[in-house]
Amino acid sequence: MTNLTGPEKSRYVQDLFTRIAHRYDLMNRLMTGGQDIRWRKEVIRRAALHPHASLLDLGAGTGDLAREALAQQPTAHVTAADFTLAMMRAGRKDTDHFGWSAADALRLPFPNEQFDAVVSGFLMRNVIDSLQALREQFRVLKPKGRIVILDTTRPKKNLLSPFIWVHMHLIIPALGTLLSGQRDAYTYLPDSTEAFLSAEELAARMAAVGFKQIGFKRVMFGTIAIHWGEKL
Ligand SMILES: C[S@@+](CC[C@H](N)C(=O)[O-])C[C@H]1O[C@@H](n2cnc3c(N)ncnc32)[C@H](O)[C@@H]1O
Repeated sequence: MTNLTGPEKSRYVQDLFTRIAHRYDLMNRLMTGGQDIRWRKEVIRRAALHPHASLLDLGAGTGDLAREALAQQPTAHVTAADFTLAMMRAGRKDTDHFGWSAADALRLPFPNEQFDAVVSGFLMRNVIDSLQALREQFRVLKPKGRIVILDTTRPKKNLLSPFIWVHMHLIIPALGTLLSGQRDAYTYLPDSTEAFLSAEELAARMAAVGFKQIGFKRVMFGTIAIHWGEKL
């Protein structure tokens, strides 16, 4: 599917997340050995929320980042937004204290300068136009607002490369097929990672739309990156 572009890719992504929504959280925990919980904590720490901060969790899926934001800053105003209804439905809990919003990352239904921080987890490699998605996040951020992006990234070649390849191309699709019955959804993960920008390229795009103080770090043997920046 990595050959798909434009609206075709968007429809494919929406359909894919609709099909795996019921197994999404479990697969995340298994694929990352539970490490995603740690990365989410770091993403929210880097968003540096003050007690009345407003935060947008974009491409929120089942809402784990939104939940972590409220765990770290219970009085923050949090909005979880996604364009796949099934993911939000699968994640929604009666105990949640944040709002859900149907939103396309490329045309956000929010006014300029509404949020103190925008975070996203595993969204950016799915959007059909990463520059436009960054422009929209920049637009809805207040001056001094922060962006933090968590996503998979192409690992650099090293001694572990063969093991990483086996994990990404054999173990994850096998596990995904077993648990969700949707093999293509879990071959999409390595394929979309390889087709996505390198960590350096993503940082350069953030700079191109105007973000400053940009940085990133790699985790999980270089297969995951956390990027951050500020709208000064
Ligand atoms: C891999 S899931 C990540 C969910 C969650 N953020 C997490 O950290 O686990 C990617 C999510 O991005 C959403 N998504 C992809 N493209 C989008 C777009 N253009 N606008 C809004 N949401 C999008 C999908 O519907 C899906 O729920």
